[in-house]
Amino acid sequence: MKKDLTKLMDLTKEDIVGILNLADQMKKDFKNGKEHKILNGKTLAMIFQKSSTRTRVSFETGMYQLGGQALFLSTNDLQIGRGEPVEDTARVLSRYVDGIMIRTFEQEEVEKWAKWATVPVINGLTDFSHPCQALGDFMTVREYKGALESVHLAYIGDGNNMCNSLIVGGLTCGMTVSVAAPEGYDPDPKVLDFAKKYDDKFILVRCPKEAAAKADVLVTDVWASMGQESEVAARKKAFEGFQINNELLALANPKAIVQHCLPVKRGEEITAEVFEAHAKPIFDEAENRLHVQKAIMALLMG
Ligand code: CP
Ligand code: NVA
Repeated sequence: MKKDLTKLMDLTKEDIVGILNLADQMKKDFKNGKEHKILNGKTLAMIFQKSSTRTRVSFETGMYQLGGQALFLSTNDLQIGRGEPVEDTARVLSRYVDGIMIRTFEQEEVEKWAKWATVPVINGLTDFSHPCQALGDFMTVREYKGALESVHLAYIGDGNNMCNSLIVGGLTCGMTVSVAAPEGYDPDPKVLDFAKKYDDKFILVRCPKEAAAKADVLVTDVWASMGQESEVAARKKAFEGFQINNELLALANPKAIVQHCLPVKRGEEITAEVFEAHAKPIFDEAENRLHVQKAIMALLMG
């Protein structure tokens, strides 16, 4: 594995399987009360430029469970907020801490952190990707479906950070991935370029029913991501019909599970009824963030 985890495109299938296997082990051991203090005395700096519930709490708790500690750092409070460049902050923090997790807007900023920091940098969400969440999703899919190979994942909605990450990670792991997004809301061109190598395993369509047909896993995410608050009304209009509801679910494999990274907007990308009916795998998915990130930190910082 590389020094950093900034996007799934940097991981091989073996890297992903290695993370997921270790995460399964971490989860099992945690449930059995077996501790792994492999990051004893180490510190993770967590830099947030956007809100977070799951990412913050799962990284902080995970670090504690591994014997280390985590620092929550809002960019408003750091000198970064007053213009200190990433180049300098990354080099300073590298003298104090053993790893840096960052949630921000531009992917390029995370890549810059990775370039200048001498300690591992982990992407906790950018507008382009959300690798830790997608890995948590794959861990959950393996728990429910036994494998990733030949599982058909259908993503319905915005071609956003989650969609980009599920396409790249899913195809890397041998999944079939179908995406339904309205025109103008496609996944990132770099991701579509990446998907070209997997011609027979990937489709991008405009019709949710076509994408959902016979799918084993149905995934969606909010129509307006963090930072797109001013586009909410226009997006609600553009995404009409791109909802996971009982009608769409009826076209999928009868044993299909539903995944959502959360937070959810009930009545928009998914009905409250479908969400509650699939709450078990959705909250397992949220739980698995903890285990998968412990595995990532153990591999990068251990
Ligand atoms: N899914 C996810 O990353 O949630 P938070 O925004 O609460 O961290
Ligand atoms: N696409 C969402 C994911 C939140 C975890 C966002 O970026 O806001």
